[in-house]
Amino acid sequence: MEASVAELDEIMLAELGEVRDALARAEFDGDTFAVALGHARLAEIVDSRVLGQLLAPAVKAEPSKPLRLPVPYYGGKFGAAPLIERAMGPIVNLVIPFGGSLGCLLGRSEPARVETANDKDGLIVNAWRAISNDPIAVAKACAMPVHECTLDAVHGWLLDNRESLTTLLRSDPRAHDVAAAAYWLWGRSVWLGGSWCNPGKRGPRKAKVALRGGETGPGIGQGVLSSKIRDELPAYFTALAQRLRHVRMTCGEWTRVLRDSVTVSHGVTGVYLDPCYDLGTGRRPDLYGIDEPEQSAEVRAWALEHGPHPRLRIVLSGLGDEHAELEEHDWSVITWRGRERLWLSPHCRREDFGPLFEQGAA
Ligand SMILES: C[S@@+](CC[C@H](N)C(=O)[O-])C[C@H]1O[C@@H](n2cnc3c(N)ncnc32)[C@H](O)[C@@H]1O
Repeated sequence: MEASVAELDEIMLAELGEVRDALARAEFDGDTFAVALGHARLAEIVDSRVLGQLLAPAVKAEPSKPLRLPVPYYGGKFGAAPLIERAMGPIVNLVIPFGGSLGCLLGRSEPARVETANDKDGLIVNAWRAISNDPIAVAKACAMPVHECTLDAVHGWLLDNRESLTTLLRSDPRAHDVAAAAYWLWGRSVWLGGSWCNPGKRGPRKAKVALRGGETGPGIGQGVLSSKIRDELPAYFTALAQRLRHVRMTCGEWTRVLRDSVTVSHGVTGVYLDPCYDLGTGRRPDLYGIDEPEQSAEVRAWALEHGPHPRLRIVLSGLGDEHAELEEHDWSVITWRGRERLWLSPHCRREDFGPLFEQGAA
């Protein structure tokens, strides 16, 4: 039975009262995590119930800084996103077949009208879906103390459950596992180096957990444990959930999201291809939970065939001269960072990318 407006107001008032009391307690106790939780809940109630709806048409939201998925991720392209966005130019549709930490999507200055992200790894897609559906629960579940033996247990559990979780995601559109998402995010933040959730890395680790601050500097910590955000995770994930609200997510082979019905039938489409790099480039094997270096050549072949389509703006990432063959077919190449290259399909923008970005293969 539907509740009347008056009843809804009562429910909302009661909830607001509870949140107010919890906030007062948390502030009195100096519990910053509980304070952040209270503020996020407040924002959620206000946004989803009354003010959000009433004010949305009247108030133009301030442009906010892009938020990354807060985990270290090998090959993450958050930093390259502005360059990829510029190379694609105006698009209505963005398709990301190798999603990972969603760097290219989250690092954009503004969302495309239609966005689709895919990854074959169910542990990753579960984390995206859990954050989108239940950001506060995921934030709470990530607040786990750093114990080395917990890391081993979490790793084993994730490896044992990857397949069943993937089946669950595919069979139930509402399904997401908050605990598994938090395990993946927390573990990825604690784990030193690559190969997180790679089946070859089962068993107790030789290396220690990231006690020394990892890539973000001594005393700061990394990912969800970074001292910059760990007390504000509920608000952080709530904002991330807002950004991901309209992103269509799939879990499977990269080719699934490259049919015309997902790409050009929506209009001008940007396709960002970031497959696992070929081992011939000299990169380390088994960097990802699912690491398939042989796909690099298949992805290049797809790019070559579809590059001339007038509605497609394809950007393909690679290392060194991995995809140099494309340059013989009207593709251009720019250097992003070190040996990291971006190959741009014939209908991408051919402008000067500025002094920061060296043009042409080095
Ligand atoms: C280089 S990473 C992508 C990183 C991503 N651009 C980012 O910003 O984080 C490659 C990703 O491809 C996924 N993957 C591996 N094999 C795949 C396949 N056959 N189909 C779809 N995704 C796959 C891996 O799980 C991994 O997340």
